[in-house]
Amino acid sequence: MKVLGIETSCDECSASVVQDGEKILSNVIATQIPFHAPWSGVVPEIASRKHTEWIYAVTKDALDKAGLNVEDIDAVVVTNRPGLFGSLLVGLSFAKAFAWARNIPFIAVDHMLAHLYAPRLTADNKPEYPFLGLLVSGGHTIICRADNFDDITVLGTTIDDAAGEAFDKVAKFYNFGYPGGVVIDKMSRNGDSGAFRFPMPSLHKGEHRYDVSYSGLKTAVVNQLEMFKVKEGESQPQDIAASFQKTAVEILLRALLNAAEDTGISTIVAGGGVAANSLLRSRLAEQPRLNCIFPPLELCGDNAAMVAGIGYHYLARGERSPLNVTASARVTGFKKKYP
Ligand code: KG4
Ligand code: ZN
Repeated sequence: MKVLGIETSCDECSASVVQDGEKILSNVIATQIPFHAPWSGVVPEIASRKHTEWIYAVTKDALDKAGLNVEDIDAVVVTNRPGLFGSLLVGLSFAKAFAWARNIPFIAVDHMLAHLYAPRLTADNKPEYPFLGLLVSGGHTIICRADNFDDITVLGTTIDDAAGEAFDKVAKFYNFGYPGGVVIDKMSRNGDSGAFRFPMPSLHKGEHRYDVSYSGLKTAVVNQLEMFKVKEGESQPQDIAASFQKTAVEILLRALLNAAEDTGISTIVAGGGVAANSLLRSRLAEQPRLNCIFPPLELCGDNAAMVAGIGYHYLARGERSPLNVTASARVTGFKKKYP
């Protein structure tokens, strides 16, 4: 079954064709980063306008790169949640129109579940269920247990900012550049991560054992501004970046290691934009008892291949979405359960 995937939940306009939920025939990702960079963050109005301008060409490109015509597509899958409402509506409406015009099956899926599916699109080292998921994006931070592609139990989450949001806010505050996570990751390579000591949140007991928090770290980093000025010449911007990144990664690691210890599950799948972070990748890779699986970088960020991939499994079970399904800014489809 050749499935067309459409993804427009944030600032990536993406279309992909995936065969039988595992073979990527094409995966076109058009990023809007230059259009949002002047504002140091995604501007929802600009995002939905760009998706409207681009979605046809991006989809046509995905079909061309797969060597297929419109008639060769067997089904359409689209992200309808969570994300920016206006952006989601563009992809959703386009996908509905495509499916209706061709009279082929159509299903709308959850973007975060799709991130967790991404490493199953790679040829080797496909994760077996159950595994622990670390979903870290600009809007969400979720530590979960995955028993199947659609059977995901949330173990922990953030009690305030998402991991990517913390990177973005710190970068914006210090004018490091955009997107924050990418810039801080790059700057940190030349920085001294021991230059500044930032606090870890005191969230490691009881029901918060798998939760994370970033507001304290963010405040501590921002409060270094005066200190940073005083130390100018002695302390470089990359030292702030590296010290922040080190703590941000340790916060994720602590919650994840707690979950691995308590559940006895040693396979970890990371997904979402922050899963591209080089320190997070190396810190996880060096954990002796864990088998950490990261999707390749092009499948870490937002992409339509993961959407087409997971959608295939719902379609194969005979599930369909009605053509009046709407978008939602919220994550759904996870089981929320604290052990
Ligand atoms: O999953 P994603 O592409 O979009 C959302 O669904 O939010 O994630 C975007 C987030 C942004 O906050 C961005 O700063 C962060 O991922 N990010 C990174 C890195 N690359 C992207 N954060 C840390 N290190 C990176 N290398
Ligand atoms: Zn995402």
